[in-house]
Amino acid sequence: MGKDSFSDGDSKKGAGLFKTRCAQCHNLKESEGNKIGPNLHGLFGRKTGQVEGFSYTDANKQKGITWAEDTLFEYLENPKKYIPGTKMAFGGLKKAKDRNDLITFLRDETK
Ligand code: HEC
Repeated sequence: MGKDSFSDGDSKKGAGLFKTRCAQCHNLKESEGNKIGPNLHGLFGRKTGQVEGFSYTDANKQKGITWAEDTLFEYLENPKKYIPGTKMAFGGLKKAKDRNDLITFLRDETK
């Protein structure tokens, strides 16, 4: 696998990344609800902008892709490039390895 597509990473490292880079805005468990960002429970296989009770931007809602390893890999490198107009205030994870680790963690923890 090259650098420009997802490949399985290290879930433990991903947990650390989630804690330091995402957890202030996102919960993972269904019961925990939304924070500044939508709850990420059940993310994989879901279309953009579908979490009930969360007030998304039109840009996020209308992106219309399905969240999966490949779409997250591209989005998380530069969210504002992938979804112009998003209100997610996060610059991106530039290293492919970091995105692989984080997405591997999310795939299990959002189930
Ligand atoms: C400062 C708060 C903040 C941080 C940090 C943040 N997010 Fe977000 N995130 C948001 C907000 C707000 C939205 C909704 C964006 C919109 O409606 O335009 C969002 C949207 C998303 C979405 C789209 C969800 C959907 O249902 O379409 C995903 C996936 C996501 N974030 C993942 C992450 C991950 C993974 C991280 C850590 C690398 C992260 N976010 C870091 C605030 C944040």
